[in-house]
Amino acid sequence: MCGITGYTGFNQAGPILLDGLKRLEYRGYDSAGIAVQGEEEIMMLKATGKVSHLVDKYNDTPDFKGVCGIGHTRWATHGIPSDTNAHPHLSADGKFAVVHNGIIENFAEIRAELEKYGIEFKSETDTEVIVQLLAHNYKGNFKMALMKTIAKLEGSYAIGVISADHPGTIFCARLSSPLIIGLGLEENYFASDITALVSNTKDVIDMDDGEVAELTPEGVKIYDHAGREINKAVRHITWDIASAEKSGYEHFMMKEIMEQPQALKATIEPRVKDEEIVFDELKLDMKKFNRVHITACGSAYHAGCVGRGIIEALCRIPVEAEVASELRYRDPIMDDKTLVIVISQSGETADTIAAMKECKYKGATVLAIVNVVGSSIAKLADHCLYTWAGPEIAVATTKGYTTQVVLLAMFAVWAAGELKTISHGAYTSMVKDIMRLPERAQRALDLNSRVMKMADKYYDNQSLFFIGRNMDYAVALEGSLKLKEISYLHSEAYAAGELKHGTIALIEPGRLVVALCCYEKLLDKTISNIQQVKARGARVLAVAHEGNRAIVTEADDVLFVPVTDPLLVPVIEIIPMQLFAYYVAKKNGCDIDKPKNLAKSVTVE
Ligand code: G6P
Repeated sequence: MCGITGYTGFNQAGPILLDGLKRLEYRGYDSAGIAVQGEEEIMMLKATGKVSHLVDKYNDTPDFKGVCGIGHTRWATHGIPSDTNAHPHLSADGKFAVVHNGIIENFAEIRAELEKYGIEFKSETDTEVIVQLLAHNYKGNFKMALMKTIAKLEGSYAIGVISADHPGTIFCARLSSPLIIGLGLEENYFASDITALVSNTKDVIDMDDGEVAELTPEGVKIYDHAGREINKAVRHITWDIASAEKSGYEHFMMKEIMEQPQALKATIEPRVKDEEIVFDELKLDMKKFNRVHITACGSAYHAGCVGRGIIEALCRIPVEAEVASELRYRDPIMDDKTLVIVISQSGETADTIAAMKECKYKGATVLAIVNVVGSSIAKLADHCLYTWAGPEIAVATTKGYTTQVVLLAMFAVWAAGELKTISHGAYTSMVKDIMRLPERAQRALDLNSRVMKMADKYYDNQSLFFIGRNMDYAVALEGSLKLKEISYLHSEAYAAGELKHGTIALIEPGRLVVALCCYEKLLDKTISNIQQVKARGARVLAVAHEGNRAIVTEADDVLFVPVTDPLLVPVIEIIPMQLFAYYVAKKNGCDIDKPKNLAKSVTVE
């Protein structure tokens, strides 16, 4: 989705903005643009397509000079991807330029009002109303004009604005859309995402809703919604630029797949003390709740499906898992005895935010499981547990998903301990198995070259099925999504027992069925389902536990993964599936890190 960045200082802004935009590319976009305060006027460059097109334009425009500017990557919502609709947008008098991330819901109303004053709009975007209204409100005081403007805006925004009359000054504002200020020495920055800033500074201020920032090379001032200056804490980022770069891997996705042992370790180890799970950051009375709802989108929802199984098994409390885009409109039955767990890598997914607001409104307590520190969901939730996966850049999540699953498992064990629904022996055994996950994940990664061979063998299947039962079914959902997200092959996940009630007619000679077979309590049943598809000519690629002999005679090929507790199976079993999706997409020549039409963080409904 859209990304914004800005710079004010003593260096040329162009290369700094373009570098920031390149780092925001992973979020998904279809056009990009930058604007700087030139000698006499605001100068702009825009390009449809990749940031590299914008870089070419910049290199062909030697006059494009200025030490203060703003930049944007746009994922079209209002109006097609085009140079006209790309940001920055300029006011009709040419005095102001804006970049915006979010959606102005009342833009049509504001536009109609401004058109009555004869103001001519150039684009079809909702964003242009911000800059036209700002110019209309401007009577010589930049800050006042901006405060007056944002007071009229409904919806969500993170904006950066420059003015031809105020050299070196950038104003930023936020409402329900991420915005971070970066602090440098006689140069300051802003961005929607830390990855755009981290090569320049590691000291940041997280902006909250309703706040406005004034950036000059000399310093940064933050104002509250009434325009009063306030003090905000400076956060020091602990990860470095290498974490946000490919470190020798061809794709971010492969780098992030390979980082999983480390990411799991970072998520697990600080929370285990003397074989006990300790959430220092969590003050939650589990006895208060009589049910749990889990809600999320995409892969985070699939992690939630795993979480449902683990929490129910260990805590014996009813748990529902539902995609946020449905839950938010379902008038769900919940009250102050309901615990809602929202899961989100980015912490910015619009549907997830809306669903959690709805749940809070109904009196539920919200616990968020989030990767991005200081994100909207982390801030809005009553309680928050962070996955410590580090920055995830590839659109298709990998380490984000496995760290979510392990944190849900840890939460379930902790909650079962609080509720006394788990024996001491079972508790200790779960904790030990959780502690061994990083090492087992590493062993699953050792399948790399074998999975590559499987991809060589099966990559041209145009349509395939993933089947599994219980935990294996949850993995089937995620394995199937991973494959279709990045390779564009049609794939469906079925609960293994349900295929015969559904589209088993589509199983024909040569069709690939990926059978997840690590949930051994139901292995015999899954094997029956394998036999049913084999009888119709399917080829079967199975994932099973090391030492499982029964599967060898049933499947065409088997990927063996290390044995783990049945409730923790997904963390390990998904790894060869991530690798499989990666290599199939590569064989099919797909843009792995930036699959078409998808965005890393979906900030629109
Ligand atoms: C998008 C991404 C998915 C992701 C989902 C939820 O659809 O393409 O990979 O799983 O959003 O994102 P979140 O940041 O909330 O986990």
